[in-house]
Amino acid sequence: MPELPIYPLSEEHKMIRDAARDFAQNEIVPIAAQFDESGEFPHETIKKMGSMGFMGIEIPEEYGGAGMDTLAYVLALEEICKADASHGVIMSVNNSLYCHGILKFGTEEQKKKFITPVASGKAIGAYSLTEPQSGSDAGTMRSRATRDGDFYMLNGRKSWVTSGPVADYFVVFMMTDPEKKQKGVSAFLVEGHTPGLTRGKKEPKLGIRASATSELIFENCRIPAENLLGREGEGFKIAMTVLDAGRIGIATQALGIAEAAYEAARQYAVEREAFGQPIGAFQGTGFKIADMKTRIEASRLLIYNAALAKEKSKADGGRYSLEASMAKLFASETAMYVAHQAVQIHGGMGYSRELPVERYFRDAKITEIYEGTSEIQRLVISRSELGLK
Ligand code: CAA
Repeated sequence: MPELPIYPLSEEHKMIRDAARDFAQNEIVPIAAQFDESGEFPHETIKKMGSMGFMGIEIPEEYGGAGMDTLAYVLALEEICKADASHGVIMSVNNSLYCHGILKFGTEEQKKKFITPVASGKAIGAYSLTEPQSGSDAGTMRSRATRDGDFYMLNGRKSWVTSGPVADYFVVFMMTDPEKKQKGVSAFLVEGHTPGLTRGKKEPKLGIRASATSELIFENCRIPAENLLGREGEGFKIAMTVLDAGRIGIATQALGIAEAAYEAARQYAVEREAFGQPIGAFQGTGFKIADMKTRIEASRLLIYNAALAKEKSKADGGRYSLEASMAKLFASETAMYVAHQAVQIHGGMGYSRELPVERYFRDAKITEIYEGTSEIQRLVISRSELGLK
């Protein structure tokens, strides 16, 4: 099969893509089903991904990263997600929601202390915005951070934190001035072992079961005032800016899942025979294959476009919210479509836990939900197009 379309990738891009592909196929594919079944966190493979530079791809080498660009990040992440979406989201959150925000808004001291161990893969970073009563309407959070001399006292409950049970460091968003609503939100860097921070039970999930998710409970958790990220009241903007980067990661996760499901379905359509011919020769299956492939390549183009827009933003400081939201919206709905069709093409075998197709189907769904639901992406896109915000 020729690779479609032909992108002008640099030698460096091809190198990281191929390294990620080899690692993913040799080290992740053989264990993915077992970790999905047990729901165990894949500590060992994540550590190895850290030593290969995958946990901080865009982070400068001086802070422990690989010092590469967004396209390199997307190419590597795509390969990891094709093998297993759980490893993929751990990598995505570490790179974009955690490291990227500190790199963009942190002081020199914060970058050294909070990025270096995480970008080098020795520690794990997480991002905590959502609360039990505050999901899509992220500006309505109730948790409070109160200044207390040279410290802030954190109180409240955060939910759905990816890597929550295992992370060593967190970027956490809390209200410092509730009267100002969104403009009263601030961002904080919190070390995982700080007294007053406890982790809730691990969420039992439909998919991405090897990625650990939990609540965080803050009860008089005292952190140094120097752990404020950005300025007081700047937290909502930081959260949104960082989510633009995160959404490129989730779009890429969706692309990886879709590719894996598509490849399984294509193979099956060629090999499986019914009524004396391969099932792919029936238009009912062949047209599915055509639509799956076309949507996957369209997703890839939107993702690469968003990656280039993010790269441009590094130079001119502009936003790439539109490009990131379009990529996430289309790629996540493509992942759901492709995984659904892949199960259908496999018939009974698609429903069996003996093949990975049912896992792709379960893993695909989350990409339409976290880091902004499809409805939120449509809101961002339509507001941007209609000049409403
Ligand atoms: N970049 C920079 N600034 C931004 C921005 C962005 N992408 N989006 C909004 N802002 C700024 C606006 O310019 C505005 O600032 P000014 O008042 O100074 O002009 C301010 O933020 C408020 O913006 P809005 O009025 O647009 O805010 P809103 O309340 O209408 O909400 C929203 C906008 C798009 C709905 C937003 O709330 C949103 O994205 N919600 C979804 C939240 C989300 O994705 N949650 C997932 C959490 S992470 C997760 O899933 C768990 C995990 O671990 C993976």
